Amino acid sequence: MNGRAERIQVNIEGLAALPGLLLAWYGENARDLPWRRDREPYRILVSEIMLQQTRAEVVKDYYPRFLEALPTLGALARCGEGTLLKLWEGLGYYSRARNLQKAVQKIEFGLGGRFPDTYEGLRELPGVGPYTAGALASICFDLPVPAADGNVLRIMSRIAGFDAPIDLPAAKQSVTDALAAIYPESRRGDFTQSLMELGAVVCLPNGAPKCGACPAAELCFAKRNNAIARLPVKSRKQPRRVEDRTVLLLVCEGRIALRRREGEGLLGGLWELPNVPGALDAQAVLDLAAQWETEPLALTRRFSRAHVFTHIRWEMTCCAVECGARSHSFVWAGRGELEREYALPSAFRKLLEGLYD
Ligand code: ADE
Repeated sequence: MNGRAERIQVNIEGLAALPGLLLAWYGENARDLPWRRDREPYRILVSEIMLQQTRAEVVKDYYPRFLEALPTLGALARCGEGTLLKLWEGLGYYSRARNLQKAVQKIEFGLGGRFPDTYEGLRELPGVGPYTAGALASICFDLPVPAADGNVLRIMSRIAGFDAPIDLPAAKQSVTDALAAIYPESRRGDFTQSLMELGAVVCLPNGAPKCGACPAAELCFAKRNNAIARLPVKSRKQPRRVEDRTVLLLVCEGRIALRRREGEGLLGGLWELPNVPGALDAQAVLDLAAQWETEPLALTRRFSRAHVFTHIRWEMTCCAVECGARSHSFVWAGRGELEREYALPSAFRKLLEGLYD
């Protein structure tokens, strides 16, 4: 047996006390988050999809608004894409929203409205991977299925002294197996959430973990062995591709030019400010605006902003151009419409900051 496998095995034995310690701590210390007030599968599905790549503190604001607009599975299954994307605006990773709708459509129209209540059944839903299926299975149906996301992998790596790179699929499987072996007899959803909670508020990803407040400190391999800075181990990440883009903020009589992004790729189907690859100079921007038949009058501002996606970083040069004509190439949105109707991703919305001050 190699050293690594031995290491996992040894530490699993010490993990038996973990559920008791975490559940007691969670009972006293859990943050009061809106999705923790019930176990209704539709509502938990919405929360878990939102939480896939977004912090709880951000989701907290979106979640009640979303459920107020679309309170039932049937309402989401039948709503238009524009409504859905507007409710999701600013949360990013918009394919999550589309998959969420596909998942509830499958339940509503394909499964006669019956929400799957097994791990395997949940995994058949679009956008529901092992993590989300584990969260739903344990939170909604009290099944002993772990949900190992990056936070849970980090804390388990520290507690159990797991020193394989946590971004390898095999690591996820090892941690999932280790956790599955210690799931408690009851309060399984709470155990799942207590692991997430520990990762969110105590065993932090960036900066020093708060070991003094940790209910698992007595078990923790990293704490006992002075290995907190070393764990978790990560394999080297691919650097993000950097892309220069020139974004045109075309303004005509106080209205702004928008167009829809094509396809299913990055931000596909969402609205955008017209933009092109590269860093164009002022004259090239005016030429482009003329080519788009907006009759450009003046370039009024030019500034830079960056936006970071998962695999790409956009270095944006934004050029505000006062225009004399509302070309048919675009829709021209007034301030109110921009707020109410158009789902404009954060990458572009941040360029409008200060526009109406
Ligand atoms: N992240 C993912 N699921 C979560 C949950 N249920 N509570 C808090 N953070 C989470």
